[in-house]
Amino acid sequence: MTAQMLPSPRRWRRQTLQPAARIPTRRRYLMCRPEHFAVTYAINPWMDPSQPVDRSAALRQWDELVATYRGLGHEVLAVDPVPGLPDMVFAANAAFVIDGIALGARFAKRERADEARLYREYLQAAGITVKKPTYVNEGEGDLLLESDVILAGTGFRTDARSHDEVAALTGRQVVTLRLVDPRYYHLDTALCVLGDGQIAYLPEAFDGESRTQLARRYPDAILAEVADAEVLGLNAVSDGRNVVINREAENLAAALAARGYNPIPVDLSELRKAGGGPKCCTLELGGFRPTGR
Ligand code: ARG
Repeated sequence: MTAQMLPSPRRWRRQTLQPAARIPTRRRYLMCRPEHFAVTYAINPWMDPSQPVDRSAALRQWDELVATYRGLGHEVLAVDPVPGLPDMVFAANAAFVIDGIALGARFAKRERADEARLYREYLQAAGITVKKPTYVNEGEGDLLLESDVILAGTGFRTDARSHDEVAALTGRQVVTLRLVDPRYYHLDTALCVLGDGQIAYLPEAFDGESRTQLARRYPDAILAEVADAEVLGLNAVSDGRNVVINREAENLAAALAARGYNPIPVDLSELRKAGGGPKCCTLELGGFRPTGR
């Protein structure tokens, strides 16, 4: 870039003071209707099998989430739910998909182990090459594509050795981030990729080294408050402009709006009883064309 092409200082100041125009792109999501949703075991601190779960409310809320995505112009595919797999609704954990290839999941908890094969078969039938993993990884729960890098969580579920596996498979740089609070057991409960090189995260959920990394890489990140993380507000789904977010996360929604994003509140209170929010329900398959919405 030549000196003349740089914006004048005055124009530059105006641009940085105003929220950027955010451009949404059309996404393809894979989801699984919570027809067999229940909390029958506890594999994270959110789950309490002694508390009642209203499955019909979960279904209503999930249907609304799907309608929200479709209303935004996104494509939603659905895998058949299977009895006896109450967490199968959390599709994000089933794989990490990038450039038409996928690393299949290998679940840390035996309660979810059978989901891996079901999702792998679905993805293969959809024409996606799925690599079987060597190490434990819980898909997009812990592996998030941010621009050209992959932010990779570990500490509770995904084995850090799988991060090298992801790097080898994708040829991308993988940044290991260590989670330290059991309530934020997957990276997508503590960090949200917004698009445009921007993220939101809860610093307290990470160890010191990871916090340093995040602060250095994302000096302009939105730092979430505990109150928003505690309602799984960071478990949000952005298309670059529209951010589908748990409705209780009001401060985070306001912070997003101030940065030029369009927060779209949804109610997923029933699914939160299993420790999941919008992002957990949503496996991104790619497809980044402009939506114009
Ligand atoms: N009950 C599920 C589990 O503990 C919830 C998974 C949430 N998924 C996510 N991407 N954070 O595995």
